Amino acid sequence: MKPIIATQKASAPARKIPVFVIALTFALAFSFIPLSFSQNPSPTPPGDQAVHQRIDSLLKAMNLDEKIGQLSQLFDFRTEKAIDDAVTKGRVGSLLFVTDPSEINRLQHLAVDQTRLHIPLIFGFDVIHGFRTIFPVPIAMAASWDPAAVTQAQTIAAKEARSVGIDWAFAPMLDIARDPRWGRIVEGSGEDPYLGSAMAAAQVHGFQGDFIGSPDHILACMKHFAGYGAAIGGRDYDEAYLPETLLYNVYLGPFHAAVKAGVGSAMSAYLDLNDVPATGNRWLLQDVLRDQWKFAGFVVSDANSVKSLAKHGFAKDVEEAGLRAFNAGLNMEMAIGFTAFSRSLPAAAQRGEISEKQIDDAVRPILEMKIRLGLFDHPYVDVARSRQILSTPEHRTAALHTAERTAVLLRNEGNLLPLNKSAYKKIAVVGPLADSQLDTLGSWVFQEDLQETVTVLAGLRYKLGSQVELGYAPGVQIRRTFPSFFDEIIHLKAPPVWTPEQSKSEMSKAVALARSSDLTILVLGEAQNMSGEGASRESLDLPGREEQLLEAVAAPETPVVLVLLNGRPLNIKWAAQHVPAILEAWYPGTQGGNAVANLLFGDAIPGGKLPITWPRDVGQLPIYYAHNTTQSPENQGKRYWEEESTPLYPFGYGLSYSTFRFSNLKLGRTEIKPGETIHASVDVENTGAATADEVAQIYIHQQSGSTSRPVRELKGFERITLASHEKKTVHFSLGNDELTYWSTARKDWVEEPATFDIWAGGNSNAELHSTFVIAK
Ligand code: NOJ
Repeated sequence: MKPIIATQKASAPARKIPVFVIALTFALAFSFIPLSFSQNPSPTPPGDQAVHQRIDSLLKAMNLDEKIGQLSQLFDFRTEKAIDDAVTKGRVGSLLFVTDPSEINRLQHLAVDQTRLHIPLIFGFDVIHGFRTIFPVPIAMAASWDPAAVTQAQTIAAKEARSVGIDWAFAPMLDIARDPRWGRIVEGSGEDPYLGSAMAAAQVHGFQGDFIGSPDHILACMKHFAGYGAAIGGRDYDEAYLPETLLYNVYLGPFHAAVKAGVGSAMSAYLDLNDVPATGNRWLLQDVLRDQWKFAGFVVSDANSVKSLAKHGFAKDVEEAGLRAFNAGLNMEMAIGFTAFSRSLPAAAQRGEISEKQIDDAVRPILEMKIRLGLFDHPYVDVARSRQILSTPEHRTAALHTAERTAVLLRNEGNLLPLNKSAYKKIAVVGPLADSQLDTLGSWVFQEDLQETVTVLAGLRYKLGSQVELGYAPGVQIRRTFPSFFDEIIHLKAPPVWTPEQSKSEMSKAVALARSSDLTILVLGEAQNMSGEGASRESLDLPGREEQLLEAVAAPETPVVLVLLNGRPLNIKWAAQHVPAILEAWYPGTQGGNAVANLLFGDAIPGGKLPITWPRDVGQLPIYYAHNTTQSPENQGKRYWEEESTPLYPFGYGLSYSTFRFSNLKLGRTEIKPGETIHASVDVENTGAATADEVAQIYIHQQSGSTSRPVRELKGFERITLASHEKKTVHFSLGNDELTYWSTARKDWVEEPATFDIWAGGNSNAELHSTFVIAK
C-alpha cells in the first residue's frame, strides 16, 4: 500500500507561536502596503565588478552610524517599536526570528522606503532541517551517507524559507562531536571529519544553490566556528581544549570544506577555545578563516556572544567586548535588545582606535551578500506564493524518502524484520514517543505543521488499515528534570504529570497490551527537548522509566521491535542482547511515521549507517573509531576491567534486509610518489534476495610518520543500490587531500613517505585489506 502523504491545505497555518500572532495582527493592519515582490532574482549571478562598484558607491554614501547599523543583527520575537525605530534609522542591518511573510514585508518596507540609502534588511532564521516540511535531524541526514539526498533536503528547506522572506539560514552546523552527552550532537554530522566535510558541502549546495543568489535559495552560515562540539564533559557552552592536531585534522575540516563549497557566512561559537573565546579569537576568525582559507563572506556572532565576552572574564566590559570582537574579525553581532558594537564602535572610531577602512572592510561582505541575494532589487515576498510553496506535496514526499534513507538498522536477529502484515492479527504499539508529533520532529522546529506530522502510530495505522488490530499504550511519561528554554519559545504545554497510581496502571496497561498481542512495536528514546541546544546529559540511559518498560514488555514469547527516536546514541546494552530487532529512526520529521512503517514492513529497506560510534555506556566517552594505536593495541578492547572498551556498534555500521559481500580490493598502483593519486576499487555484491542499498566505505592507516596516525580514517564512501545478486565495482581516488595531514612534529601539512593500510567494507571494522606505499 502506498504511504499516505498527509499534506496540509494551502491555507492551513503552521502552529503559531503566540508572539507571531501579534506580528500577524500587525501585518494585517499594514496589508495596504503595495508589494513589488519576487524572491526569484536573476538566474545568473551578477558580475563581480558590478557588485563591487555598487558596494563602493554605497560605502561612499554611508555615514558611520549607518555602517555600524549594517554590523548589527537583532532578535525580533514580536512587533516592537524599538525594532521599528532601529530599522527606520538604519541602526540594524539584519533581523532574526521573524517568519511571517507579511511581517517581513512590513519590516522590509521600513528599511527600503524609510532609510536614507534604502538598504534592505537580511532576515535570518534557524532553518536547520526544514522550514514547514521537516526533514530528519542533521545527524540522521548524515546517517544517510547520501550527500545528494542531503542537498535535496536543504534545497527544499531553502525554497520554503525564502518564500516567506528568510534569506539566510543559520546552518549547516559543522561541529564534530565525539561525546554524545553534548545535546547538540543532533545538529551535526557526527564524529568524522571526512563524512562531516561531505555533508558540509552537500548542505551548502542545498541552501545556496549553484551561486549565492540562485533563485529560491538562501545564504548558508556554517557554525559554530569552532571547536564547540568538544565542550568539556559534553556540557553545552563549556570550554574546549583542542590541540592543533585535532583542530586541523578533525574539527576544522568540515568548515574548510564549506568554505571550499562557497559558503557565504559563518557564525562564531559560544565557547572558550584554548582559553580564547571564539567570538574574540583572531586566530580563528582572521588567521585561519581569512588568511589561510581565503574566506570572503562575513562572520556573525552567536546570540549575545559578543556581550558575553565580558562574562567570560575576557573583556572588562561590554564596550571592550565589542571592540575586541570587531578587532578579532567579527563582521556582524547577533544580539537581543542592543549590540555591544553600537556601544563601542562609534566611540572607538572617534578616538581613532579603529579606522573607517576597518569598518568598511567589515561592512563590505554584508552588503555584498545582500546584493548577491538580490535583496536590493527584489526586497519583498509574495505571500500567496509562499503559501503555495509551503504546501507543496513533493516536499513531503522528499521528506518521506529522506527519512527512509536515514534510518539505521542496528539489530535484526532471526530476520524478524521486515514484518509481514498478514502474520499478525494484533499489534501493540507501546512507548511515550509513539504518538507524539513534536517528538517525531526533533529540535529546531518552529514553523512545522504539527497536525500533518505523521507519528509512528499514525504511520502504522495508514499502513495496516483495518487489516490488523492496533493497540496503543504510552506506558511511561518522560520529561526533563530541568526545563528547556525552548519549551517557553514554542509554548510547549506538557501534559499533567501522572500520579504514582496512574504511573503504575499505565505501565501495567502497556505490559498487558503487549502480552495480549502477537507483536510489540516499542517506540522509545528521547523527547524532542532532550537533545539540541542546552540539552546535555550526564547519562545515556533511556530517560525516565523507559528501560523498565522495555524490560517488562520484551518477553521471549512475543516478538518485540524497538524503534528509537533520538538525537544521540543511548545506552541500549540490554536491548542489544534481548530485543531481536532495533531500528534507529532518529527524529525522522514530518513524514517520520510513514517512513518507519514502510521500513518495518519492507516497503523500504534500511540502508543508513552510523555517523558516530555507539558506546556501550557513558563511561566510555569520548569514544571514536579514529583513535591512535598507542601501547598494547592488542588490549584495545580491554581497557576497562569491568566492561569491554569497544563500542556497542562501530562507526559506519548499519544492517539491511539483504546481505552484501565485498571482494577484489584492487589498487591501480602499489607505490606512488607524494602528490600523486592512487586509485582503488572494490566489488560489492548483493548476496540477498532483495534490492537494497549498501554504503561502500574505504579506510586508511599510515603505518609510520613524523607523528602517530589514527588506526583508521575514512577516506571515501559511496551509497549504492544493488538488485539481488547484482555486483558493482566502486571506485575511489586517494590524492593529496586524502593523504595529507597536519603534523604537530613538523608544524605543517605533510604527505609522508610511509606504508599505508587500506580497508574496504560496510563499516569501520571492514576487513578486506591491502597496502600501498608512498615512496620518497
Ligand atoms: C544560539 C545557537 O547557538 C545558534 O546555533 C543559533 O543559530 C542562534 N542561537 C540563533 O537562534
